[in-house]
Amino acid sequence: MDRVVSGIRPTGFLHLGNYFGALRNFIKMQEENECFFFIADYHSLTTHPTPLDLQSNVRNILIEYIAAGLDPEKATIYVQSDVPQVCELSLLLSMNVYIGELQRVASFKEKVRRQPDNVNAGLLTYPVLMAADILLHRADKVPVGKDQEQHLEMTRDFAQRFNRIYKNEYFKLPVAYNFGSELVKIPGLDGSTKMSKSDNENSCIYLADAPEVIRKKVMKAVSDSGPTEPGQPKTQAVENLFQLMKAVSTPDTLQYFEDQYQNCAIRYGDMKKQLAADMIAFVQPVYERILELREKDDYIRKVAREGADRARESAAKTIKEVREIIGIKSF
Ligand code: TRP
Repeated sequence: MDRVVSGIRPTGFLHLGNYFGALRNFIKMQEENECFFFIADYHSLTTHPTPLDLQSNVRNILIEYIAAGLDPEKATIYVQSDVPQVCELSLLLSMNVYIGELQRVASFKEKVRRQPDNVNAGLLTYPVLMAADILLHRADKVPVGKDQEQHLEMTRDFAQRFNRIYKNEYFKLPVAYNFGSELVKIPGLDGSTKMSKSDNENSCIYLADAPEVIRKKVMKAVSDSGPTEPGQPKTQAVENLFQLMKAVSTPDTLQYFEDQYQNCAIRYGDMKKQLAADMIAFVQPVYERILELREKDDYIRKVAREGADRARESAAKTIKEVREIIGIKSF
């Protein structure tokens, strides 16, 4: 069985983009792999959330992960800060990481551009902590999107460097887990190519959105004035509506509106009504479980505690072995 590790920063509610991009695949992966899915609360501190926001965001993701189908019996679901061994591994790895290579990381440079008044050390060492997350469980595979590929490559560099310096093969070199055709890109309702809350809250459909909220957002989605001749290429906004429909509606429904478009007979209002109904039907079971789980504080606490116990057990083994390799021995 392969070991899989994946983290998510708790920055808000999960939307359909998260669901189709990763979560849906995690649900399959947990069947055939030894999975560690954690909430990266340490990482989220690089952007200075308030304590209240941090706490509620962690709880929300935990609830939404379970509501969407991650099974705490099958996968180890935990909160990063419940496993402080990751800090020790991060410290130990950092001794063989060069400031120059961290300064060249694309995500770091992007942050420097975007928040020049908060270029904290945590941002610089972000890839080291992430490598520690992964190597802590000696992962084989890491499901990552394009934006995280460089971080994973650095994880392999750090692992390989450790192995070379200490002349062993202790760390496996984790590879990206590619979902291939399973990967469905979900666009925004605002004409943007990716559903993302950093651009526009109303462009996202959240798993925790009530049916009425979904309906309102979909009906307000950006479209255009309609095709005027057969075979006219779609604008991005309209292409988005079709992509969203492809994700949640039946093939017949999709084909119907595709034909309507090609015949220049399409009425976007009708299409949106259908899209809203299909989205609501799609999200509803998850939405209802979210509402239930929000009331089950004892259960959520138990899941977090048991996940932390299992993750700490795996982490403790790695730390013990790494300390020995490095030469840290207690008297
Ligand atoms: N950096 C990842 C992101 O922003 C989150 C993350 C932290 C992660 N540690 C990880 C992902 C380890 C995979 C493995 O999306």
